[in-house]
This record gives sequence, structure tokens and C-alpha cells, in this order.
Amino acid sequence: MKLLHVDASPKSENSSSRTLSRYFVDQLRARLPLLSIDYLDLAAEAPPAITELFARATYTPADERTAEMREALKVSDALCARLLGADALLFAMPMHNWTMPAAFKAFVDTIVRGGLTYVATDDGRYVGTLGGRKTLFLTTRGVDLRPGTPFVAMDALTPSLRAAFGFIGVSDPVFVDAQPMQFAHEVERAAAMRRARVELSTLAEAWGSIEPRAALSKVG
Ligand SMILES: Cc1cc2nc3c(=O)[nH]c(=O)nc-3n(C[C@H](O)[C@H](O)[C@H](O)COP(=O)(O)O)c2cc1C
Repeated sequence: MKLLHVDASPKSENSSSRTLSRYFVDQLRARLPLLSIDYLDLAAEAPPAITELFARATYTPADERTAEMREALKVSDALCARLLGADALLFAMPMHNWTMPAAFKAFVDTIVRGGLTYVATDDGRYVGTLGGRKTLFLTTRGVDLRPGTPFVAMDALTPSLRAAFGFIGVSDPVFVDAQPMQFAHEVERAAAMRRARVELSTLAEAWGSIEPRAALSKVG
């Protein structure tokens, strides 16, 4: 299995989302020794914000693009290739102002590409090309937005991730949300990390048990 692991927190060692994504990868690697990982750190390598040239280039048919347009799409072409080359996707990020952090939004704007991560059909539909990939969104939140809490209606992160990635074919993602973190008592924070670790271990077990059967069916 090839996993594309993307971290998006601007924080380094003290990042809760990075701590949990590392935990998940360790759990998965313990079950899949042949796991190969393509790692992208958006704090170190955020794609540039969308420029006018990019906006024109992306909607210009490939065979009509100028050299300048092709150059403007290079980072996007490379990131789309990394997504398409992966069997499984892990996106870890903090909630920032109720939605995704800016670096991850720039990533999304860069990887939703006609002809690459989605295609338009002759009968006017749009079909995502990332179907069939196991996908985990791991998010950390300062407050508690679980059902029944006062902040539940403020979650603009989960629906925006579902919409953007659903459009490019990620139809059944798993969400593990650690909350409340920063704006909670230390005891509640520790409990949130524990709950997230339990969910991540269960998921690693599920993902880790799929591959041997898939390999067997290929052999047979
Ligand atoms: C700029 C900024 C905006 C934030 N906005 C929110 C928010 O809207 N809602 C929330 O619950 N937490 C918010 N937080 C808190 C983070 O989501 C929380 O601390 C999270 O655990 C950070 O994860 P990290 O350590 O991986 O960066 C914000 C933090 C920062 C730095």
C-alpha cells in the first residue's frame, strides 16, 4: 500500500494533529511492513496561492495552453500525480477559524484539476478520479464541536472537506476529530487525544487487514 500523508499544521513538534498523524502511520506500519509513504508537509511546502495565470491556465484545454500556462500548472500537475499514485490518503490538520487552515485550502485549490482529478463526461456530468482510495481526515479542534455542544453548528471544516474531496471522487472518507484541545482543561485535552488514538488504532487495524486479502485475490 502506498500512503500519501499530508500534514498541514503550521506548528512543528507541539502540533496535536502531527502527533496523531504520526501515531496513525506508526500503527499502520506495524500492520503493513511494506507500507510505502509519500510525505508532504504543507508548512514547509505550501502550494502558492492561485494566480490569475493559474486561473486562466486550468480552464484552458491542455492542447491550447501556452508555455507560460504549462509552467504555472507544474506544481499542480505534480501534486495531482502524487494523489493519483497513492492507494490511501491521510490528511491531518487543525481547525482554523472553523474551517481548514490556509495552507490546506491552497492545497485543495491546487489539486482540484479538470482532466486530472476530475473529468467532465459527454453527457454533462463531473466524475472524480480518486475513487477507491481509503481516505482519512484527521482534524484537531480547540473547542468541542461534537453533537450536543454549543459549537456544533460552527463546524465548517467537515462539510468543506467532504464537498471538495467528494467532487474529485473521495466518496467515503473517515473523519477522526480530536476535540476539545487548546481551549479545554488539560484533563479534557488528554481524554480527547485518548479517544482519537483509539479511533486511529481501530482504523489502522481495518486498513491493515485489507491488504493481505487484496494481495491474495491478485495472486488467485
Ligand atoms: C489561527 C488559529 C485559528 C484557530 N481557530 C479555531 C477555531 O475556529 N475553532 C477551534 O475549535 N479551534 C481553533 N484553533 C485551535 C486549533 O484548532 C487547536 O489548537 C488544534 O489542536 C491545533 O492543532 P495543531 O497543534 O496540530 O496545530 C485555532 C488555532 C489557530 C492557531
